[in-house]
Amino acid sequence: MDILGINIDYDRPVKLADSVYWVGFADTEGRLQCNPYLIVDGDEAVLIDGGSRPDFSTVMRKVLQTGVTPRQISHLIYQHYDPDLCGSIPNLESIIGSPDLRIVSHAENNPFIRHYAPCSPLLCIDRMERRLTLRSGRTLRFFRTPYAHSAGSFITYDEATGILFTSDLFGSAGAFNYWKLFAEMEQCCQGCQINKPAMPDEPCEVTEAPCPWSGMHHFHRRIMPGNAQLRHAMTVVESVGARMVAPQHGSILHRTADIKAAIDALKAMDDIGIDGMSSGRWGKL
Ligand SMILES: [Fe+2]
Ligand SMILES: [Fe+2]
Repeated sequence: MDILGINIDYDRPVKLADSVYWVGFADTEGRLQCNPYLIVDGDEAVLIDGGSRPDFSTVMRKVLQTGVTPRQISHLIYQHYDPDLCGSIPNLESIIGSPDLRIVSHAENNPFIRHYAPCSPLLCIDRMERRLTLRSGRTLRFFRTPYAHSAGSFITYDEATGILFTSDLFGSAGAFNYWKLFAEMEQCCQGCQINKPAMPDEPCEVTEAPCPWSGMHHFHRRIMPGNAQLRHAMTVVESVGARMVAPQHGSILHRTADIKAAIDALKAMDDIGIDGMSSGRWGKL
């Protein structure tokens, strides 16, 4: 696999690190790109933010292409409860067909997730000491990022690989023709980072492709409720010190410099959600 994107076959699972795969649907037709991830650990597998109902067949095909059988999936992790990540829960429950399947989320999310998942036990990360230890001893750690964007939002860190799965944080929207699984932020002018008018399809002056920073800005100012919530989430991300950031939308940040730059850029944005609307920066109250 070529991490620069030259030789990636998006019709197959894409390996991010040893035993970690992107199993998403590369959507170039203009919907919101969604990125489910699979962790394979011996005879266990964990699916993170498994995807929407329309994406189910593609996601499941890619899970099978990794060599994992549905019954191997021991845990489904949902970092909040939106339909773009939870919509396929009934399909997953059905195909996995195991009484041992557990759904991991937060108590703030679980009453909503129950509407997708009539069967499986729903676990809360606060009752698991915010960690999931698999049979091998491999540990996934959970960090709460409340109201970024849901009350029960959290992110998941795989200690074995240093990958942080961030759900909507670091997501991006727009410019679907230019979507790449691995971000190429360094080619973009650094001046784009701070509060540029968020037009996700606007070309960057340097690359002449749509600016990835604008796409990220555009997404966060609409999805996140306000500046304070996003800044708090960024301090949480910073404290983890991940080597790779894998969001549920947009592109994976695989360079340390890009992760730091993205954290700094998102912290500096001051027109997020209600703060942008109430200051007249965008939209109308
Ligand atoms: Fe969401
Ligand atoms: Fe999302």
